[in-house]
Amino acid sequence: METVWINGEFKPLSEGHVGLEDRALLFGEGIYEVIAAYQGVPILLEEHLERWERSAAGLRLPLPYTRDQRREVLMELIARSGSDRISLYGQLSRGESRRAHQFPATPKPNEFWFARNLAKYPPELHEKGVKVYTHLDERWARRWIKSTSLLPNCIAKQYATERGGFEAILFNEENIVTEGAVANFWVVKNGVVYTHPANGRILGGCKRAMVLELARAAGIDVREETYSVDFMMQADEAFLTSTTINVLPVVKADDMAIGSGTPGALTRRLMELVDAEISSIIEAASAPAVQSGT
Ligand code: PDD
Repeated sequence: METVWINGEFKPLSEGHVGLEDRALLFGEGIYEVIAAYQGVPILLEEHLERWERSAAGLRLPLPYTRDQRREVLMELIARSGSDRISLYGQLSRGESRRAHQFPATPKPNEFWFARNLAKYPPELHEKGVKVYTHLDERWARRWIKSTSLLPNCIAKQYATERGGFEAILFNEENIVTEGAVANFWVVKNGVVYTHPANGRILGGCKRAMVLELARAAGIDVREETYSVDFMMQADEAFLTSTTINVLPVVKADDMAIGSGTPGALTRRLMELVDAEISSIIEAASAPAVQSGT
């Protein structure tokens, strides 16, 4: 049975409810997080919890619980799930109030979290890479906030899905590639890895931050710079990163091959580095605590 924690209580997921006038429902006025946990160990937990707090501040949403309380809830949900691979979904809204666009004077925030089995992607996906389709980035300007207002993301993802693509790659009015509809996007050209800077015009992914750090530590030339759709189409390699897909090679865009049309060497290197990093996070968290003073 799937469990939800909502406003301080654990319940069966089917019994968790918010009212019809919840402001996330009426206005998309909420924030969310998706966190992966493998073998009982959440990955990049503090980074996700920190982004949660930043996103809430970005929407001036009051935080009904402390970070310690939230962490405790998540660890309990992981334990209750009894599964080796889960994703944790959390959402916070300003809560219910009589419908009016301006913020209510006394918000009653709704916060909930639930755990879901995270199905393994078929191995071919990472081995062979995926197709993407480009779509205009129609989102608002504050993309650094992980907001539940995801309509432009849904429309773009649907556009790609209907064409048999895995992801939509968003570009702005200046033809600059920003990111994917649900993941960060990267290209490789002449041995240099490029990704759009986390300057507020993209969501700064937790996995993106991990990849930047690992790449730099491995001496890979990685640059947070903008690049055009044309540059992307001429790239040698491309890949996506997110909590659930880690590093996923992209081999075709708008039905044209990127580079050789197979996952590139640097992409594969980064896949290995991320896999190794995740294994070491799990190992470190699972190791028995060192006893001191004996
Ligand atoms: N998506 N960019 C966008 C627009 C995203 O929605 C996501 C995550 C990312 C990657 O962020 P991270 O590495 O922290 O997962 C980038 C999640 C998984 C989702 O909406 O389901």
